[in-house]
Order: sequence, then structure tokens, then C-alpha cells
Amino acid sequence: EDPGLVDRYGRRAIDLRVSLTDRCNLRCTYCMPAEGLEWTPTEQMLTDDEISRLVRVAVERLGVTEVRFTGGEPLLRRGLEDIVAATHALRTPDGARVPTSLTTNGLGLDRRARALADAGLTRVNVSVDSLDAARYAQLTRRDRLHDVLAGLDAAEAVGFAPIKVNAVLVRSINDDEAPALLDWALARGFELRFIEQMPLGPHGTWVREDMVTADEILASLTAAHTLEPEGAAARGGAPAETWRVVRDGVVVGRVGVIGTVTRPFCGACDRTRLTSDGQVRTCLFAREETDLRALLRGGAPDDELADAWRGAMWGKKAGHGIDDDGFLQPQRLMSAIGG
Ligand code: GTP
Ligand code: 5AD
Ligand code: SF4
Repeated sequence: EDPGLVDRYGRRAIDLRVSLTDRCNLRCTYCMPAEGLEWTPTEQMLTDDEISRLVRVAVERLGVTEVRFTGGEPLLRRGLEDIVAATHALRTPDGARVPTSLTTNGLGLDRRARALADAGLTRVNVSVDSLDAARYAQLTRRDRLHDVLAGLDAAEAVGFAPIKVNAVLVRSINDDEAPALLDWALARGFELRFIEQMPLGPHGTWVREDMVTADEILASLTAAHTLEPEGAAARGGAPAETWRVVRDGVVVGRVGVIGTVTRPFCGACDRTRLTSDGQVRTCLFAREETDLRALLRGGAPDDELADAWRGAMWGKKAGHGIDDDGFLQPQRLMSAIGG
């Protein structure tokens, strides 16, 4: 049997994350400079058909069983619904459909949730770092909290489930907001996850000492809530460690912490990534990429694309290396890698 996308450490990538654009309509301080970035020129971006072809190769030939679309902001991609529909039409060699999800900042989701659900999208993860409009505007440099919340309402209305909410805590801005965010998420039925800030934003801006750590987040949560660990089994290859939230002896929801930096989970990583300009990345922190766009546009058949993808994953590093001497963050920022 075809082993799929395995690496030399015995991990198997079954979860494909596709960045559909490096553009974004927010400017989160931990992700992008205020002035934005030099966006990838259109001719270097994969077309909708090129993306769908690579996703098909991954699902039909390389053992991928789950596909997530990210950005930048994936809702800025006009063809998103078509790409989702093409993914939904695929079957794995076992005849199964592949769940498709979206990681989004939620802007414009109110207008497109219905079409995305109709195209076969399974679920969405929406970023909300603060419920205070002024803080949200400070963190994202755009006064758009209201629109994000409208997007979440729409996601709920069309039946996406579970809806996960991602929050990054930034020192002195929203680091006191974890319990309140959790109250809100529980009341709304969203699954909230806190993410440690990673060195993937503007070069030179990440300061380890300023990072709000998983331990800190947990301390702040347990001061206000009763949490019970769900254990490693609940986690699988997922980055979030999860806890059940208990009130008066009753489980009222769950909360997660993605402790990439202080609690790395690289040993269980089951991901492979494709950028909007057609490069395979083995890791968020990889410093090498494999150019599938050149092969694709050079007329390579599916076999050859699959082999190149396999070869790329074989070179996946054991871990992110943030703690290694001489660690260098990748040249691309988060928005061009895909969250
Ligand atoms: P689900 O739990 O299946 O919904 O997926 P997810 O949590 O991976 O999805 P999401 O796109 O919402 O990612 C949330 C955060 O997880 C990202 O912003 C990253 O901080 C972290 N993350 C996602 N993929 C990776 C990865 O491959 N490595 C590391 N270290 N962190 C990741
Ligand atoms: N560190 C941690 N999380 C980040 N995100 C973006 N940049 C960073 C970073 N440097 C988050 C976004 C979103 C998710 C896809 O990634 O807030 O929730
Ligand atoms: Fe946009 Fe996401 Fe980066 Fe914020 S973190 S600027 S929403 S890509």
C-alpha cells in the first residue's frame, strides 16, 4: 500500500492546509506590519483550477484525508466557493469524502456563509482576540469587531459545527481577557483556543519574554473556571491541548491551548502545507520549500507532482527549532505561509 506523505521520523501527513492568498484586510500586529506586505503578484498565484488539481492529487494519491483553507484571509479569494466545491466532490481511495474547513478572520463571512455551506464546507475557525472593540482595533489595526461577530452569527445560522474561535493574547493589551473570552465562548457554544504567539510576524518583533505562555493562560483561566484535562487521546495530531470546563459538576464546554512554543507537539504533527504561490511547506517554520507551481506549469503529470510532494515531506525536520541556537524564523510571514 502507498504510504503517502511520510517523513524520515515516521510521521504521516494526512492534513493538508492550503493558503489561498497572502492578502488580508486586517493588520494584526503579531502577523503583519501596519503598511501591509508586498503581495504576491497574480501571475505567481495558483489559479483556482491549479489549486483544485493539487488538492485532488493530495487526496487521491497521497493519503490526505482533511483539507483546510487559510490565508492571509481566504475569504478574499473570489473562487473560494468553487475551490471548496471541487474539494467536496473528491473521494479518497477508500471512497470517503474529505472534511473541508476554513480558518478566517470572519470579515465578510456574514455574506458568504450560506454559499460556503452549500459548496460543502464542513466547519470554520474564526479569530477573535478581544471582545472589546477598542482593543480589537488596537490588535488588528482595523475597527471591525462588529463585522466579525456578524460573521460568527452567520456561521452558526448555516450550521457549521463545531465553530472554533482562535485567540492570541498579547502582553498588556488583552492578556487579562482569557476568562471573559471563555465565558462568551461557552455562552455561544464556540470552542475557544488560545494560541501562544509564534515568531512568524514581522521580523524582529517577537520577544520570547513578552509571549503570553500556555502556563500563564491556564493560570488565568483556572482562577475563574474549573478545568479538567481531556488527555492526549482527545488531541490526536491536533495542536490544541484541551480541557473540559465544569460548572456545578456539569461539563459546560471545552477550551484549548495551542502551546506551540512552550509545549511543542511536532512529534505528532500530521500536516503538509501548500502556499498560494504553489510551494509545498513541510512546517510553519520550514526554511525550504518545494516548487510545485513550476512543475505544474511545465506540464508535469499527476505522478510527477505526487513524487515531488512525497520528496518534500521526506525532508521535514523533527521539530520547529525555536529553542535551537541560531534559530531563524522563515522568510515568509504567517500571512504568506497559512496559519
Ligand atoms: P482544528 O483543530 O482541526 O480546527 O485545526 P487547527 O487548530 O490546526 O486550525 P487553525 O487553522 O485554527 O489553527 C490554529 C492555530 O494552530 C494556528 O494559528 C497555529 O498557531 C496553530 N497551528 C496550526 N497548524 C500548526 C502546525 O502545523 N504547527 C504548529 N506549531 N502550530 C500550528
Ligand atoms: N503567532 C500565533 N498565532 C498567530 N496567528 C497569526 N499570526 C500568529 C503568530 N505570530 C493566528 C491568527 C489566527 C491563526 C490562523 O493564526 O490569530 O487565529
Ligand atoms: Fe490577517 Fe490573520 Fe494575519 Fe490577522 S493574523 S493580519 S487576520 S492573516
